[in-house]
Amino acid sequence: MTDSLIAPHGGELILNMASDTEQATLLAQAQTFPHITIGSRQLADLEMLAIGAYSPLHGFMTQADYLSVVNTMHLSNGLPWSIPITLSTSEELANNLSLGAQIALVNDQGTVQAILTLEEKYTYDKHLEARQVYRTEDKAHPGVNVLYQQGEVLLGGPVRVLALQTQHFAQYRYTPTQSRALFADRGWKRVVGFQTRNPVHRAHEYIQKCAMETVDGLFLHPLVGDTKGDDIPADVRMRCYEVLLENYYPADRVILGVLPAAMRYAGPREAIFHALMRKNYGCSHFIVGRDHAGVGNYYGTYDAHYIFAEFDPAALGITPMFFDHTFYCRTCDAMASKKTCPHSTDQHVTLSGTKVRQMLQSGQIPPREFSRPEVAQVLIESMKQPIA
Ligand code: ADX
Repeated sequence: MTDSLIAPHGGELILNMASDTEQATLLAQAQTFPHITIGSRQLADLEMLAIGAYSPLHGFMTQADYLSVVNTMHLSNGLPWSIPITLSTSEELANNLSLGAQIALVNDQGTVQAILTLEEKYTYDKHLEARQVYRTEDKAHPGVNVLYQQGEVLLGGPVRVLALQTQHFAQYRYTPTQSRALFADRGWKRVVGFQTRNPVHRAHEYIQKCAMETVDGLFLHPLVGDTKGDDIPADVRMRCYEVLLENYYPADRVILGVLPAAMRYAGPREAIFHALMRKNYGCSHFIVGRDHAGVGNYYGTYDAHYIFAEFDPAALGITPMFFDHTFYCRTCDAMASKKTCPHSTDQHVTLSGTKVRQMLQSGQIPPREFSRPEVAQVLIESMKQPIA
């Protein structure tokens, strides 16, 4: 059954979750290990590593992989990989850590989340990473800003994860093993994955449904890890999806799940990363629309399309489905793109997530060309201030 689905990246799911017995042993030993407190992004990375969503990674990148990813968008074993997965710390802390040591990674409550076996510690060039990964050294870029705030030393090595952050969206938090089983149960082989970090609007719906016309099913996979402060919170976005699915999608052709990873806003490089993660979840296809994972004006509208040409399609495995900028056209009385609509741009209602957000922030109700009324209602409710 599952062998009819696309293979995970590298051939098999690499699950870095400790077994129950291993957990008990490691937890007992962890008291004597040096502790490092990690933040929400690293917690999300640990979850992705635990469940196999980052296959073929076994942990935080060592220097050869890190440099290879930064400079060539491939791991040192030759597999495509576009975003560094790293754990940073201060020089001071790093000086006290010996190679080969086991390190307890703890959350801000002091709970042990994972054990890292320290294979390497190394310094790195943040400006090089910024230029290569984000195509800018501007600290106003949210991904670059996170990078500049990181510690000066990276700790590399395999992890064994002891605890998952599963409290939010538990019913949608499918692991790749689970999503693959769901797809197989439904007899899906050609599954299109959809990444999103914005409230769903009509252009999203349109490109999803165009894709659905040619595949077996849609894996609707909003990212619920860290996003920048002015993005709409994940719980609101999820409610938007729930009402949209209830009213406008055939239940047997869609599965809604969540991606725990943090948003990097790395545009083209992140499109590759997003696709590879969805490959691990079992998607054969992946939607890449306009300015995928972009922010501000750092990337060209279709840079996230062009970057796929830099990879061997067989090595990527997952097939991108590219969509031009789509909009509502008043004369067509339909959603369209320049590929399908002959009318002038004054007939076009653009539907960017940013624009919807600005309207909501200024108290305006998005028109039906932007948003389904049920979705608009959820957004309006979420914007209402409690009456004093
Ligand atoms: S993203 O950061 O996750 O890419 P968003 O949630 O807005 O942001 O987009 C999800 C997907 O829909 C991306 O592939 C993006 O390129 C695509 N998309 C968003 N708006 C449009 C649009 N108007 N036309 C075509 N594609 C779009």
